Amino acid sequence: MKLTSILSAAVLASTAVADSYPYVRLSKNESVLVILDMQEGLIPLVRDYDPIVYKNNMLAYGSLATVWTEIPVVMSTSAQTGPNGPLPQEFLDWYPDAPLIQRNGEVDAWDNEEFRAAIKATNKTQVILGGIVTDVCTAFLARSLRAEGYDVWAVIEASGTSTPEVRDIANDQMIKAGVNVVSLFAVLGELMRDWRNTPGALEVWPWVDKYMPAGGINARAHRAAILNGTIVPGQDQLPH
Ligand SMILES: *[C@@H]1O[C@H](CO)[C@@H](O)[C@H](O)[C@H]1NC(C)=O
Ligand SMILES: *[C@@H]1O[C@H](CO)[C@@H](O)[C@H](O)[C@H]1NC(C)=O
Ligand SMILES: *[C@@H]1O[C@H](CO)[C@@H](O)[C@H](O)[C@H]1NC(C)=O
Repeated sequence: MKLTSILSAAVLASTAVADSYPYVRLSKNESVLVILDMQEGLIPLVRDYDPIVYKNNMLAYGSLATVWTEIPVVMSTSAQTGPNGPLPQEFLDWYPDAPLIQRNGEVDAWDNEEFRAAIKATNKTQVILGGIVTDVCTAFLARSLRAEGYDVWAVIEASGTSTPEVRDIANDQMIKAGVNVVSLFAVLGELMRDWRNTPGALEVWPWVDKYMPAGGINARAHRAAILNGTIVPGQDQLPH
């Protein structure tokens, strides 16, 4: 190899290292799940998702710590004795021992001392976040947490707001602040990492069947085919 080729290869190699992106992964050991202002009086404000879809997403998100039971949960509500109302009973039944900080004024949950204390008490550095509405409750807290040095994972489908435009701007703002704005399925993959882990296939398939029916129904069809399936005429002519 010519000296110039060796040199340019070395330059390329060092450039590649300089440009490498530090992939900070979400860890079930380092994270806390925050259920923020998903209150019965606020759920109807969500207009960027169909209500059936949003209810499914909200419960799917909120139930993550029923699968990864090692992940602590912190819940918070705003003015819950007023028109914002309580959290859906599902969350309260799933996490009877989780702190539920009732804010009586603070828009940004981080402005509430009790909430800050509840997050700090978990000793976690990564915050998984979803709330109503995306552009206020979620985006304000996400950026406050970033300012404090937390690694924040805002789950796209778990938050809802007035319009897709408002959601997109809020998500852009969070991304600029270094928030990981990710899908629910991405969070699932990050937390599980390997289907052979625990929680893994055994614990996650029932959750997928309940909340991500495209995957769940497909798995049922696969099971039925293996347990009692036959190849019908014509099907066996299809390319392999
Ligand atoms: C979580 O902690 C357990 C026990 O220390 C360890 O075996 C596992 O590798 C950790 N998982 C991750 C994703 O860091
Ligand atoms: C957090 O860390 C403190 C200090 O090390 C410890 O006293 C406390 O028990 C820890 N809390 C949890 C939930 O692990
Ligand atoms: C298998 O399929 C046959 C034909 O449809 C059906 O009669 C039978 O009950 C099935 N058995 C099971 C175990 O599902």
